[in-house]
Amino acid sequence: MKALVLVDHPEEKIQLLTIEKPVPTKGQVLVRLKAAALNRRDQWIREGKYPNIQINTVLGSDGAGIVEEVGAGVSSSLIGKEVIINPNIEWGDNPKVQSKNYRILGMPVNGTFAEYVTVEAAKIHEKPAHLNWEQAAAIPLGGLTAFRAVFGQGQLAEGQNILISGAGGGVAQFAMLYALAAKANVYVTSGSEDKIKTCIALGAKAGFNYKGEDWQKEALQASGGFDVVIDSAGGDQLNDFIKMMKPAGMIVFYGATNGTPQKLDMFRMFWNQITLQGSTMGNDQEFEQMVAFINQHKIIPILDSVRPFSEIISAFDAMKMGGAFGKLVVGIETELLI
Ligand SMILES: NC(=O)c1ccc[n+]([C@@H]2O[C@H](COP(=O)([O-])OP(=O)(O)OC[C@H]3O[C@@H](n4cnc5c(N)ncnc54)[C@H](OP(=O)(O)O)[C@@H]3O)[C@@H](O)[C@H]2O)c1
Repeated sequence: MKALVLVDHPEEKIQLLTIEKPVPTKGQVLVRLKAAALNRRDQWIREGKYPNIQINTVLGSDGAGIVEEVGAGVSSSLIGKEVIINPNIEWGDNPKVQSKNYRILGMPVNGTFAEYVTVEAAKIHEKPAHLNWEQAAAIPLGGLTAFRAVFGQGQLAEGQNILISGAGGGVAQFAMLYALAAKANVYVTSGSEDKIKTCIALGAKAGFNYKGEDWQKEALQASGGFDVVIDSAGGDQLNDFIKMMKPAGMIVFYGATNGTPQKLDMFRMFWNQITLQGSTMGNDQEFEQMVAFINQHKIIPILDSVRPFSEIISAFDAMKMGGAFGKLVVGIETELLI
């Protein structure tokens, strides 16, 4: 089968190669992938900026497809099912935090940028019927990260004010769609006026350009303060969020693209009872809850673009360049590879 493999090549680092089709072992299913989607993680791995890099692994954490075979102990009734894949491996027993053995599909375990992938039978979930293959494939990693951040950690409730930073990001767009569905008052930041306009058209109350001078003042005036902030940029901007929180508000962060802040306004934090909460992907129960929420609210992920699998390396390059709004998706159809 064709697969995108992390290779020991000085420039490209990733190559579409022909490798052996995997065989499902006990408890596993073999999924023939119809579409897969990129996450920032994939490009971080390509750039060597991820822990425990393992060459010769098939990358990709997001995918949707059809169950083609089952391993020992798995009901053959699953064959033919249209599914999306939960990329968690061994989250463990504690719903609050992942175990030491926790891994993510797509390194160290072979992932979804391939014609076939094997996963535990418990990790497949029925594809939401209102979504096409490309939209469904966009959900898993980003959708789960946002679901835990907004609800599992942020405990967002109807009528609360939420600020989602960098709304054009793959995870952030899910946070925005979930918060709108939950009937919260949604505010966004973005470095792009066009993305802000799109967010407002989708239902956000207002948006602020984080590259601008006085966006913090504008955001505070427009909203009256935030109950929840969802952020992955980090950096010194964290102190701006602390100033914009309502008392007892929570800042949830699931990344730190701009690094750690040089200082932290602890005085304001303790006086206003502000929580700073780290978050990462989500447990298996949250994945199930997320799929139910997406079905209930007929949420449609925002796709930046869909490419044929043969052009997947250009999707990595686009991820590196930035500027995308929503998910970068590849359609994995055998005929596109010939
Ligand atoms: N902990 C986890 O489990 C987990 C899971 C997924 C992602 N992450 C991490 O979260 C980060 C985002 O991931 P992603 O997949 O959503 O990446 P992405 O699709 O590449 O999105 C990154 C977004 O960051 C925004 N951004 C850049 N500078 C910003 C700033 N100064 N303030 C606010 N936003 C800013 C941009 O938003 P605009 O385009 O709107 O300007 C950009 O679209 C990465 O660091 C990733 O590694 C962690």
